[in-house]
Amino acid sequence: MQLKALGLVLLSQGAAAQQMIRFGCSQLMVGRIDPLVNPGVAVSPHVHQIVGGNSLNVSMDPATHDLVKDSTCTSCTFSEDFSNYWTAVLYFRARNGTYRRVRQFPNVGLRTDGGITVYYIPPYDGKTTVTAFKPGFRMLVGDAALREKQGMQKQLCHRCLGAGYDRGGAPCTGTDSQTLPTGFCAGGIRTTVTFPTCWDGKNIDSPDHKSHVAYPKTGTFESTGTCPDTHPIRLPQLMYEVMWDTAEFNDKALWPEDGSQPFVWSTVDSVGYSQHGDYMFGWKGDSLQRALDARCGNAVCKELRTQTSEEAMKCTLPQNVAENVDGWLDKIPGMGMDMA
Ligand SMILES: *[C@@H]1O[C@H](CO)[C@@H](O)[C@H](O)[C@H]1NC(C)=O
Ligand SMILES: *[C@@H]1O[C@H](CO)[C@@H](O)[C@H](O)[C@H]1NC(C)=O
Repeated sequence: MQLKALGLVLLSQGAAAQQMIRFGCSQLMVGRIDPLVNPGVAVSPHVHQIVGGNSLNVSMDPATHDLVKDSTCTSCTFSEDFSNYWTAVLYFRARNGTYRRVRQFPNVGLRTDGGITVYYIPPYDGKTTVTAFKPGFRMLVGDAALREKQGMQKQLCHRCLGAGYDRGGAPCTGTDSQTLPTGFCAGGIRTTVTFPTCWDGKNIDSPDHKSHVAYPKTGTFESTGTCPDTHPIRLPQLMYEVMWDTAEFNDKALWPEDGSQPFVWSTVDSVGYSQHGDYMFGWKGDSLQRALDARCGNAVCKELRTQTSEEAMKCTLPQNVAENVDGWLDKIPGMGMDMA
């Protein structure tokens, strides 16, 4: 239904007018696993949806785990990309207190089964170069434990989509909000997770999975702002978009009687500040650097191998620990574990 409505507006979406790598990655697994923040922990505190290479497992020791060599397929359409990308998932809370996972729908112009739209964005001036991530590189943006505005990182937001995907403009501008939308969104909710763009040039990770990267010290990535001296290396801007099909719940009779909104992140957060994204780099050889240098746009690039969306959808993994994350649930999986 949305797909038809989303049809022709791709090029009017401000951001898409610029050359940027943008492609779909279908669902690899939905489950309680987090090899970045909770490595080796059999069941992590909250549910994630994960896409990318099928070498994903709970440990992924950076010293030994090779995402490229250890994967036999990827759920992304760029078939040399065995990275893993993940976010929290969204639940709907019914009046009777039970929860159901909100389905996802494909982004404009893409065919995916759930999953994430991944962007690698070069500087907007069309000429400044960026350095691709190194093997073993990983990072986190956002904080699953955050319950207030204070401490929220930049460019993590929710967009309330109108019927026909009628709101353009760059992500996290205009009426996009850090919090979940409070009213009906006729076209569903789009969430955006944008990562910092400056690297210390030395560490592929850090204890908080954040300190090895930083935001420009002046200006913004978009304005080709200068990186701080401590983090001098300019990275591509990694960004995720996730499309949540909340429209099926747009019924006053289903929403809470007190007028509040019914959606809850899998972190058990109904306000929205806990939105976060995780990344483990896993592109084969120098493929990502070549694609960035060639200023490839969208999901076709002469520097890169692609597979069809159907092939990408076939790359899936069973949950690390089998658990019902769908259907009507009495509790969000892990509820109670997260409230650190
Ligand atoms: C994770 O994958 C690596 C590489 O394939 C493997 O050596 C390791 O044993 C796996 N760990 C678990 C817990 O499955
Ligand atoms: C709770 O509400 C949902 C949505 O109205 C409904 O589909 C489900 O069957 C209800 N569950 C129980 C146990 O009443």
